[in-house]
Amino acid sequence: MEQYKQEKNMDMLGTSRLSLGEGKHLIDRLEREHGLANPEMAALIESNCPELRDYARVKARGIADRQYGKGIFIRGLIEFTNYCKNDCYYCGIRCGNAKAKRYRLSTEEVMACCREGERLGFRTFVLQGGEDPYYTDERMVELIRRIRAAHPECAITLSIGERERESYERFWEAGADRYLLRHETASESHYRKLHPHNLSLERRMQCLKNLKEIGFQTGCGFMVGSPGQTARQLAEDFAFIRKLHPEMVGIGPFIPHHDTPFANEARGGLELTLYLLSLLRIQQPDLLLPATTALATIHPRGREMGIEAGANVVMPNLSPSDVRDKYSLYDGKVCTGDEAAECRECLERRIESVGYHVVVGRGDHRGHIRCGMTPATRTPMAFLN
Ligand code: 5AD
Ligand code: FES
Repeated sequence: MEQYKQEKNMDMLGTSRLSLGEGKHLIDRLEREHGLANPEMAALIESNCPELRDYARVKARGIADRQYGKGIFIRGLIEFTNYCKNDCYYCGIRCGNAKAKRYRLSTEEVMACCREGERLGFRTFVLQGGEDPYYTDERMVELIRRIRAAHPECAITLSIGERERESYERFWEAGADRYLLRHETASESHYRKLHPHNLSLERRMQCLKNLKEIGFQTGCGFMVGSPGQTARQLAEDFAFIRKLHPEMVGIGPFIPHHDTPFANEARGGLELTLYLLSLLRIQQPDLLLPATTALATIHPRGREMGIEAGANVVMPNLSPSDVRDKYSLYDGKVCTGDEAAECRECLERRIESVGYHVVVGRGDHRGHIRCGMTPATRTPMAFLN
């Protein structure tokens, strides 16, 4: 229990705890109505306790099984650059961290990761990077085209931050399918605590809206237990997600990085993260919901517990092993052993240990049928929902 003193599972500010019966009642309503008013959601979150977590977990897992069966989708994560022009206070690769050892993978290195990934059974590549000005639209388009041509059966996911709508359109035309851009927090005041002034929540939300409209399967998300976060703010995240209706939501505990302004902050809680995963699954049954690396970092069975709580995606690292430790967003990030994509067998065994199996396939969102290989024939399903 000692370790939990270091964890923040919730700021007990404002709302009071619900009785178990009231909590269960709200979870049932969340299931029926796919959303709650903010004060109710905040109260439900603040009432995080083992019994409610169990209740939410069993319900969430049942929903995930009905939506996606016993299959877990895997994505190969390629962290291709850790240069970043942003200075988010929580992030280890922020531009203000002079100690970060910077790297960029060459196109050939990225292509080698993809080849290895496809051999290992991955059918989605996630190109994740800092906001690196070296990667102009032209360079990104070239990279996307090369991967698209070499791996026509695979999905391409981008996670490279905020860009102009026109840039997103060019990436879509070049053959990218999905885009991950965490909103980090839907609360304006909390956003200001986590980011310097040149970044804005409004712009971030506009980017997400643009991505959805263009047709990307879009992922938003937030950190759990980031400094200053309250249940009310988390309720705002749930309301924002309800409105955006993304295809994916990535959440993981905040973990302090020693070379950032948040070095001495407490990390986010394991139990709270699992509870929120379940509530997300209940609110939006068809979500692609990853059991994230941050979750795996704070508990040896983090991924398995994430799956048990309602997650249906895992994203192991495909980056070359010599650069992995440099993509250090937070301290202790797991990047060897089971986390390494080469250890596909271990991953498979872990997933099987909780009664699931790895799917070899693109793992698209249920609403997004694959319409063909050329971008022109892909339907932006966002308009059809
Ligand atoms: N702890 C947990 N997650 C973090 N991220 C960045 N820094 C941290 C941290 N210290 C997450 C952010 C970002 C994603 C790439 O990683 O949510 O969007
Ligand atoms: Fe913004 Fe890394 S600098 S998330």
